[in-house]
Amino acid sequence: MPVEFEQTFRNFLMGHQEKYNRTYHFLILMDSIVAAAKRIELYYRTGALKGNLGVAGSINVQGENVMKMDDIANEIVLHYLASNKRVIQAVSEECADVIDMNKSGGRYFVYFDPLDGSSNVAHGLPVGFLFGIAKRNLEGSIKGPEDFHLRQGSEYIAAGMFVIPTGMFTLALRDAGCWRFHSDETATYVKPVRMILPENPQNWELSFNAGNTSVFSEKVGGWIKDNISKYKFRYIGALAGDFHRLLSNGGLFMYPAIVNHPDPKENRPQGKLRLLYEANVVAFMCREAGGDAIDETGTRILDIKPAGHHQRTTLYVGTKSVIDELISVFK
Ligand code: AHG
Ligand code: MN
Ligand code: MN
Repeated sequence: MPVEFEQTFRNFLMGHQEKYNRTYHFLILMDSIVAAAKRIELYYRTGALKGNLGVAGSINVQGENVMKMDDIANEIVLHYLASNKRVIQAVSEECADVIDMNKSGGRYFVYFDPLDGSSNVAHGLPVGFLFGIAKRNLEGSIKGPEDFHLRQGSEYIAAGMFVIPTGMFTLALRDAGCWRFHSDETATYVKPVRMILPENPQNWELSFNAGNTSVFSEKVGGWIKDNISKYKFRYIGALAGDFHRLLSNGGLFMYPAIVNHPDPKENRPQGKLRLLYEANVVAFMCREAGGDAIDETGTRILDIKPAGHHQRTTLYVGTKSVIDELISVFK
């Protein structure tokens, strides 16, 4: 029987860079991101799933301080990003400040959430490592506006996510599609599959925290009431997991504004999710898969000009016709 070879992620990316006449710097960057993802996955399997991690500040059976899975994942990503020398600056959900890396020689800005969906950790259920990448203006001066880390999603060159610990990895490349890979028996990401959101509503899913419905705006509550029966309802509680399903089945993921909470302090008029490393990442992947994403004013997520690196946004992401319908509801 002939041996069968699946195309590897690295080989796929090399072909992509050559096709578009690009350098291999991006390959080196992606190599570090993949290495970090594998390492997070290893810690998740050997630590979190075996109950060895606990919460930050607690003490394990050996009397050592235990790190939270989020912090471990963050340390891992920072290590690999800094060591590849291609990154100018990084923004992490876990770091208050922008992180300087190779400021003079780097080419890329990386925005990441090393471990999204932490409430799933205690259950061994899926979490995500989400990242977006923008590039420096290589011709201009180092102080030009394109050398700034606060970039809108439409300027990202790539964005992706690992669903940990499932071995699934999705990467979208600007104007070159959204591609899914899986980790094979040798922990190599293989077999690119192009993701296109299905137009046929048969399997469309609706994904949001339904427990919040009564605290959404009247517009959003009304839309849910009129439309929920058209969808299958699914919610994993980790954006990467929920969005992973959506890319195959179509439909809508949303995290609306919370504006009608009985305790006004609990309101979240800006939504919960972060623009640079959560919303933009899925919006970018979704656009490359033929879908779209907006906030609650009907503005495209990828067109939002960030004012701060931890800025939040409301998020509606999914099938284009559903987003078009929502734009007319919001405008
Ligand atoms: P975190 O960044 O704190 O891990 O939050 C997870 C995010 C996202 O992954 C998920 O879709 C959403 O928050 C879930 O929030 P709710 O618990 O409010 O539903
Ligand atoms: Mn997060
Ligand atoms: Mn996180």
